[in-house]
Amino acid sequence: MAIWNLGSINIDHVYRLDHLPRPGETLAARSYAKGLGGKGANQSVAAACAGASTHHLGAMGIQDDWVIERLKSRGVCTAHILRLPDQATGHANILLDGQAENAIVIHPGANRAITADMLEKPLSAIKARDTLLIQNETSAQVEAARIARRAGARVIYSAAPFGIDAVAAVLPHVTILAMNAGEAEALFAAMPGDLPVEGLLITRGGDGAEYRDLATGTVHRQAAFAVNPVDTTGAGDTFAGYFAALLDRREDVPAALRLAAGAAALKVTRPGAGDAIPGLEEVIAFVANRT
Ligand SMILES: Nc1ncnc2c1ncn2[C@@H]1O[C@H](COP(=O)(O)OP(=O)(O)O)[C@@H](O)[C@H]1O
Ligand SMILES: [Mg+2]
Repeated sequence: MAIWNLGSINIDHVYRLDHLPRPGETLAARSYAKGLGGKGANQSVAAACAGASTHHLGAMGIQDDWVIERLKSRGVCTAHILRLPDQATGHANILLDGQAENAIVIHPGANRAITADMLEKPLSAIKARDTLLIQNETSAQVEAARIARRAGARVIYSAAPFGIDAVAAVLPHVTILAMNAGEAEALFAAMPGDLPVEGLLITRGGDGAEYRDLATGTVHRQAAFAVNPVDTTGAGDTFAGYFAALLDRREDVPAALRLAAGAAALKVTRPGAGDAIPGLEEVIAFVANRT
């Protein structure tokens, strides 16, 4: 009954510009915002917001203490986040033009310097009723998944950013595979036929989401809640983190899907990633008077 998340931590630097810079051009930004991002940190915030006991497993540089404070303030346990002296904290420089078109440079930094050795001690505490979350922005994904499955825990893998080699390597240790529509399309094209997992969570942006229970063949569908989107960054992470946490709390799949969709809908009405993820009470109130 706890979530362990081997996940990336990124600092998002968001610059608004009149247009994206051309090669050789120097541009002054119209505005700048700094926030918490990284698929892993976003999923940890979402899981903690949904009420699960959430331990983040990850790595950062030795600066940027505000990131730890921000995660703590959302209820995430940060005790196992490693500080690596010779690595930069992962970060994303996000350029947005007036039409919301973007260009993004990510430096993975400490996220990709995590080794299996570093995870052995914290993951020795994972139990059969716990859940491990993983995404494709850190190193040591396969080793973590193997340890968790050996302990009998559920492993939920978000195949994002999509990489077929990364999915293929971790898949034998995965319980639930989570993807957006584009990632699902890429996966089914590369791996036709049955997948060796218990379930597939597929989110389809404004078209909603579905959970396919591959053991029973049941497909649970959830529509998206109608909102005016201002920033869809982190929608999938909000969904996945909430869904995992609600299953961890022994909610059934339809209830988990509905609250996850409510959380993701609220997230897209706000700018930002991890900082824009809503708390459970607000989500419950939001879905209560909607069909
Ligand atoms: N425009 C939107 N309106 C309402 N909900 C949305 C919208 N975009 C995304 N969502 C919610 O967020 C979930 C995840 O979005 P999606 O785009 O599929 O993931 P990702 O962020 O990984 O690309 C969707 O299943 C839906 O519940
Ligand atoms: Mg999307």
